[in-house]
Amino acid sequence: MPQKFYITTAIHYVNDVPHIGHMYENIVADVVARHRRRMGDDVWFLTGTDEHGQRIERSAAKQGILPIELADRVVADHHRLWKKLNISYDDFIRTTEARHRIGVHEIIRRMLANNPDDIYLGEFEGWYCPSDETYFTEKEVTDQKCPNGHPLERTREQNYFFRLSRYQRLLLDFYKKNPTFVQPQTRFNEVIAFVDGGLRDLSISRTTIRWGIPWPGNPDHVVYIWLDALTNYISALGFGSGEDARFRRYWPANLHLIGKDIIRFHTVYWPAFLMSAGVELPLRVFGHGWWLRDNQKISKSVGNIVRPENIVDDFGADPFRYFVLREMVFGQDQNYSDEAFVARYNADLANDLGNTMSRALKMSDSYFGGKTPPTACDDNDVLRASRELVPEFLRAMDEYAFQRALENVWRLLVAINGYIVAKEPWKKFKERGADENLSRVIWNTLESLRIVWVMLAPFMPRLSADALTRLGGDPADIGLHAMEWGRLPTSAPIRVGESLFPRIDAATYIGGNMSNPPIETTQAAPPDLAKISIDQFMEMDLRVADIRAAEKVEKSKKLIKLTVFDGERERTLVAGIGTRYAPEELVGRKVVIVANLQPATLMGIESNGMVLAASIGGEPSLLSVDAGVPAGTKVK
Ligand code: MSP
Repeated sequence: MPQKFYITTAIHYVNDVPHIGHMYENIVADVVARHRRRMGDDVWFLTGTDEHGQRIERSAAKQGILPIELADRVVADHHRLWKKLNISYDDFIRTTEARHRIGVHEIIRRMLANNPDDIYLGEFEGWYCPSDETYFTEKEVTDQKCPNGHPLERTREQNYFFRLSRYQRLLLDFYKKNPTFVQPQTRFNEVIAFVDGGLRDLSISRTTIRWGIPWPGNPDHVVYIWLDALTNYISALGFGSGEDARFRRYWPANLHLIGKDIIRFHTVYWPAFLMSAGVELPLRVFGHGWWLRDNQKISKSVGNIVRPENIVDDFGADPFRYFVLREMVFGQDQNYSDEAFVARYNADLANDLGNTMSRALKMSDSYFGGKTPPTACDDNDVLRASRELVPEFLRAMDEYAFQRALENVWRLLVAINGYIVAKEPWKKFKERGADENLSRVIWNTLESLRIVWVMLAPFMPRLSADALTRLGGDPADIGLHAMEWGRLPTSAPIRVGESLFPRIDAATYIGGNMSNPPIETTQAAPPDLAKISIDQFMEMDLRVADIRAAEKVEKSKKLIKLTVFDGERERTLVAGIGTRYAPEELVGRKVVIVANLQPATLMGIESNGMVLAASIGGEPSLLSVDAGVPAGTKVK
């Protein structure tokens, strides 16, 4: 029977549609889930939505609708987004579902049965934060604001309490026995210090929830909102329903993945609730860092929301998935910018990975008639590199060090490029034709690229399947064994196809707002490889075109929408030349365009090609053509 692996994300609030923080968390969870699955585990992956509490009530009231109407609407957005990002969850829980209510009833019932005085009625006065739905201590309050900067309300009420103070010793013992319970370690240290400093009983606020849990002796039907939220992890498995086979199979969770802002709830309160109810504790909680904008946490309450859906729409989910995992050291904070995405895309994906793929495929295609070479090889430098780097990659994946895992994949790419340069297959072909030696060299290149794509499968699942097929491999063969050398068939059909990662013209895409310095990346392509063959150049369709109309693109300093005639038809292009040229001086000009570029959408306009211009310190200067040259003339 395979090992089980239960992974959860935080359940996301539904007061607004998801932003990059939520997208990141679900992408990370998806990468872990896909990796565990391909390693042979029986994975259960849960995500969902947190639909109770004041923030949702308030958001709904502002829009004049019921909380459940707002929730339904936002949940539909979640489903749409998770589909687009290819998130392979097994279950999606909503806290408004009946099965969740059953789970909450059951955990409270068990708490009351096991430890009848863990919940008691008392008087409470304190600083309550409606935005975080929690009370803060005097020490944590500055100018009537919570540490997250939200305004606080002084609240006094008769209240139920959870006897958290009783669990201080038990929690500290548990942490000692489970030294990897919380990760990263720095966060674990903070948690231990917090518990060590003494635990006050938790108030179970009346004000935070309105839906009815029958509460013994209490006509108000009150339940603590975070107890409600946290219980999703077991209610979704059927806890308390009488049909709890899934609970018995998958609980305790192998990994609760959450952001660092909610670590205390998951590593102190949740374990204490479970201890009180006599339910086993989760095995690990990982508190990831925040995506920041200008060094501030991206969040609805700060109002600096980033929803990089345009990036996903324009370049696909996989490059974005790769970017967030490669860019952020898992556990630390990271600033987000579209510029950083474009820089990393061009350097890592278009250049390192995409170019190596197309070179290798093209060589095999032309030297071996559209097939993988007929002779395999089991003694060479790329094989040795892969035997060293695959275990490193797997170790990093086990430690949830995604950035390090990806760096190891890129090390293999560097080795592959070095190998190609050293072997000079084009020279061999010229001198001796497609002999056995060339066959081995090209087969080694393709085989090592196959291993690269197998490692990358959880990160870029769609492109990995496509790339493996192009290489003549099996797109479904992505498990542990697939990382072993020698599985690429000989003389199997390959497909060169279009570029996997067409380069992004940064200036045009960003609209002249590139503010970040270029990112340092592994330089996988050695200078020799940067040269292209005449055939490669001829693939570019450069043509003379007449500009027939030009207008500024709204809200962009740099972009101009052009209507050009390319000799056959009119087409729309968007060019980043607005800082130098006024639209009226462009009409009637002859320019050179790249006519066979894949369309790209810039500021909502589909651009079909690119105008060539020299760049002098970022200022464009259009290439000009003699007046007598008709539109459509090929440039070479
Ligand atoms: N509903 C609670 C969680 C209850 S779990 C039993 C909640 N929801 S949330 O919508 O505010 O946040 C959901 C997750 O997104 C949390 O793990 C949170 O840390 C994460 N992020 C929210 N903003 C973030 C960033 N700017 N960056 C990265 N992740 C952050 O908290």
